[in-house]
Amino acid sequence: MKGLFITLEGVDGAGKSSHVEWLAEHFRYAGRAVVFTREPGGTPLGEKLREIVLHDAMHPDTEALIMFAARREHVEQVIRPALARGEVVISDRFTDASFAYQCGGRGLPEARLEVLEQWVHGDLQPDLTLLFDVPGEIAQARLGAARTPDRFERERQDFHARVRAAYLRRAARYPQRIRVVDGSRALDEVRAQLADILRKM
Ligand code: TYD
Repeated sequence: MKGLFITLEGVDGAGKSSHVEWLAEHFRYAGRAVVFTREPGGTPLGEKLREIVLHDAMHPDTEALIMFAARREHVEQVIRPALARGEVVISDRFTDASFAYQCGGRGLPEARLEVLEQWVHGDLQPDLTLLFDVPGEIAQARLGAARTPDRFERERQDFHARVRAAYLRRAARYPQRIRVVDGSRALDEVRAQLADILRKM
């Protein structure tokens, strides 16, 4: 069986984590082995880098480089081996997040990240990316004050608006791969959208 690489994307508070378990079940029900993982992180070293990049102040270039350093380990140790075993890999964020946050949010030139992308996973792209899209006010309200916000969650509204716009531009550029899910709807309606996308796949 051929491996399947699925990534979940969206601004903070778009609700992607609410659907992870359902997605995994969908594939397990179809008899597939599912590996669930996340970025930044996904490996022991990647999780250490995650702690640093989410909490320590740094230059935007450093931030982008750490994201891709963690990704290098993740691709090598987790993603490629699982795909080679024919498994379904579901990653909570991948390189689209770098283009959305580091380019859209922080303003880094895309050309710089394209070099890193080529370097780190030139021949590997997700088979499907589910982009959970919600208006800024809804995302902010969902994040609420439930926990201590990280460096990205603490950013101002205009940062998140730029991240969202960058995600939507990527979806328009790669319509075959990136499917936009209206994350502002009720849970079961979002699930119906997901089921529809997976059925057509
Ligand atoms: P997130 O999935 O939102 O973790 P949690 O749900 O636990 O808050 O990811 C953490 C943050 O990392 C998120 O705000 C987006 C950011 N990020 C980037 O800026 N660039 C990247 O390449 C990746 C993978 C994540």
